[in-house]
Amino acid sequence: MVEIQEVLKEAEQVGVLSGAGLSAESGIPTFRGKDGLWNRFNPTELATFEAFQEDPKLVWKWYIWRMHLIANSKPNPAHYAITEMEKLFPRFLHITQNVDGLHREAGGKKFVELHGHIFDGKCRFCGKHYTAEEFSELFPIASKTFLKSITEETLKGEVFRKIDEGELPFCRNCGEIVGPGVVWFGESLPEEAIEKAFNFAEGCDVLLVVGTSGVVQPAASIPLIAKRKNAVLVEINPQETPLSPYCDFVFRESASSALPKLIGLLKR
Ligand code: APR
Repeated sequence: MVEIQEVLKEAEQVGVLSGAGLSAESGIPTFRGKDGLWNRFNPTELATFEAFQEDPKLVWKWYIWRMHLIANSKPNPAHYAITEMEKLFPRFLHITQNVDGLHREAGGKKFVELHGHIFDGKCRFCGKHYTAEEFSELFPIASKTFLKSITEETLKGEVFRKIDEGELPFCRNCGEIVGPGVVWFGESLPEEAIEKAFNFAEGCDVLLVVGTSGVVQPAASIPLIAKRKNAVLVEINPQETPLSPYCDFVFRESASSALPKLIGLLKR
């Protein structure tokens, strides 16, 4: 079998499709693993527009808790390895399902965020989008700087109390309550991001599938689209996934161990 080193050395267009497993070693829980978020919380009560309309304070407390966790996390070696890949291939794109922005903190520039960015804001009533900077002005307790500066105790005490007392982000445009800038179940993905991701996947020589369970659409179709156009698929995941049978190479190990190894192969 051709070694992966030769495949990568000849590759012109390389993509990475990443999921929560990429950030697991930064201390951010995945969704479906043994200690996954969806094992502890019910996504339909927290990550849907219906749930938000039903109880915006509950949904915002949960997202602020996640944002506090993320604000106090750092990129891990896998994030930095992906950033390094941007310079090693003529055409490269990191397609991520993650909303934590750690790939940005690792210096990544060539990425699309299929499921949005958790520090952005999105008014689902009038459609207004708030960048992380704009949103932190509208809702200071949701800003990264503030969340980095407080303990979980303050978060669950003073901050949650403020939210309970009605401190919420009201849209500058329409006055309704703004939600987090992520894609909830039942919502469509950002057009531009999905188009860019699908088009890039169709032209890939190699697609690395890193830390995703491959069960959520449309992201899970991206590897199959690449494969149909003769891309070499590489899975990096300690667990088997529905995508595993389609992969030409499989690294049954963590992203922060496999990705730096691949970079090392390329540099030889
Ligand atoms: N390195 C690589 N992979 C890992 C690691 C690690 N250190 N730790 C866990 N994994 C793998 C798990 O084996 C699992 O296959 O990461 C995957 C995480 O799967 P999910 O928790 O389902 O996360 P993801 O695939 O990103 O979910 C997709 O579902 O809930 C929605 O919007 C949410 O973007 C998310 C989408």
